[in-house]
Amino acid sequence: MKKNALLFILFLALGFNAKSQNYNNLWIPDTLSGTTFNLAMRDTFSQIIPGNQTITAGINGKFWGPTLFFNQGDTVHMNVQNLLNDATTLHWHGFHLPAVMDGGPHQMIPPGTVWQPYWKVTNNAATYWYHPHLHEMTMDQITKGLGGLIIVRDPIESALALPRSYGIDDIPLVLTDCDFTSGNQFAIVPYGDSSVVNGTLSPQHTVPSQIVRFRILNAAIERSFNLGFRDNRNFSVITSDGGLLNAPVTVNRYLLHAGERIEILIDFSGQSGTSVDLMAFNASLGNFIAGGENFLNGPFGNYLGHKDFRMLHVNIGPQTSNPITSIPATLTNNVLLNQANANVTRLLTLSDSAGVTNPVILGPNAFIINHQLFDINQNEYEVPIGNTEIWQITSSSIFGHPFHIHDVEFNIISVNGVAPVAAQAGWKDVVFIPGRTGTTNTVVKFIAKFEDYADILHPFMYHCHISLHEDEGMMGQFVVVDPFATAVKTNNQTASFNLYPNPANSKLYLSFDDPNTQAYYVKIINVLGKTVLMLPKPQLQQGIDISNLTPGVYALEFTDQKTKAVTTKKFIKE
Ligand code: C2O
Ligand code: CU
Ligand code: CU
Repeated sequence: MKKNALLFILFLALGFNAKSQNYNNLWIPDTLSGTTFNLAMRDTFSQIIPGNQTITAGINGKFWGPTLFFNQGDTVHMNVQNLLNDATTLHWHGFHLPAVMDGGPHQMIPPGTVWQPYWKVTNNAATYWYHPHLHEMTMDQITKGLGGLIIVRDPIESALALPRSYGIDDIPLVLTDCDFTSGNQFAIVPYGDSSVVNGTLSPQHTVPSQIVRFRILNAAIERSFNLGFRDNRNFSVITSDGGLLNAPVTVNRYLLHAGERIEILIDFSGQSGTSVDLMAFNASLGNFIAGGENFLNGPFGNYLGHKDFRMLHVNIGPQTSNPITSIPATLTNNVLLNQANANVTRLLTLSDSAGVTNPVILGPNAFIINHQLFDINQNEYEVPIGNTEIWQITSSSIFGHPFHIHDVEFNIISVNGVAPVAAQAGWKDVVFIPGRTGTTNTVVKFIAKFEDYADILHPFMYHCHISLHEDEGMMGQFVVVDPFATAVKTNNQTASFNLYPNPANSKLYLSFDDPNTQAYYVKIINVLGKTVLMLPKPQLQQGIDISNLTPGVYALEFTDQKTKAVTTKKFIKE
């Protein structure tokens, strides 16, 4: 039996008669804003439970990472430094950006390497996140704590009277569940025995007695959370994954699946001095929704399955000086995609792996898309740039799966023929595909537009956001292609350029014989053959910043945008 059993019993015994000394103060992640973001991923340790510290991984800290603030319209530049002992990737979940910047399994960052993606933020104001996406390692690296939130602001959201004092009346809540070994180390399991918010066990937080915004991310490996308050009060959902809803939607429960985000407004006016619990009412979940299963033993056994449990103890304190005291009646005017404009309907299937001859990890327990396990070398679809597409997903799986696609935000058309409820009738990047009913398969349709960023080399992913299923192969990939592009993939049309100054100490410039030459990728490799800097589509006019390289001889590997041909030149860093 796991050590956590004991902790959990303690949690049950103490948790329900609210003595504040039994709670830990909710940790609020630091923030970063501007247009250049330095993110250093490293192995570290953290005091999560009494006794031995837990080996964790953090981004600029001991666990999880800073919350990044982006303004729509800005070009953001990321310096992602992998100081972990292992390779990783960092994916910008929900963002519309070039595939080569996306941080999926193809954009692997070796240990010791700096990766510098950048892109123009076109997403709507909402809550997004970033997390590792290395194939077969995603569950492991997310469990150790790698990830962070991204908050996008735009003019429409900024014009509304909404709470936006971070940590005060605008609270980030990253929901997970975790499990510890007897040595206090993370167990890499789909379900933990303890619910955790922002890396805090048994958390409490004080909010002002006014309208408060919670930005909630389900960052769990597998579990869904049927969110609500212990007193069943109403709250207003104001966003789906990728933007504001047209108007707030009043509910008292919201079932949030892995990878999904919602922002909600709660009215705490006049309640100073009282408290209420944010709960996961998971006792009402069926057996085939993650977290609804009711077993204590085996690989999926856990103490939170099919139970109602507290996520956060909320203490209500005095008002702030400029409180928001009412909820806006309307928020935005979403122009959803029109099915009449769809160029194609793609038919996908989800199923159990029975009949698949070569299951990779868990054998017959794996779930699959289009009757096959993930193959990183196979593009399932070529999406012509500019296409509006309906993706129709038919599931014969008995289990429900949160399906996620990169590159786009989509609109749900229907789930088993029924249009989405108001709280999901906006922009989404994860849609829950319920398990089949009896022998009747589930059919879910969504519509998306693939507007730009054609790239034949770097695919975008789609997958189940239950990391266990994803790691086991419940994933596929597509490329966005420009059918009119004349680019040919060849290895003999090398670009002709010189590096200067050489030797160089801070900036390195490239001068091309053909001034129209464009870079698809530049890598800088040291004498040991190790890639130290990865520069997708670098803006070369500004030079390459090499000031952080240790002095020595390096190779610069240039990939031409048009021909994809690779040329290598040496330079010396002084
Ligand atoms: Cu949040 Cu492909 O993932
Ligand atoms: Cu994603
Ligand atoms: Cu799944």
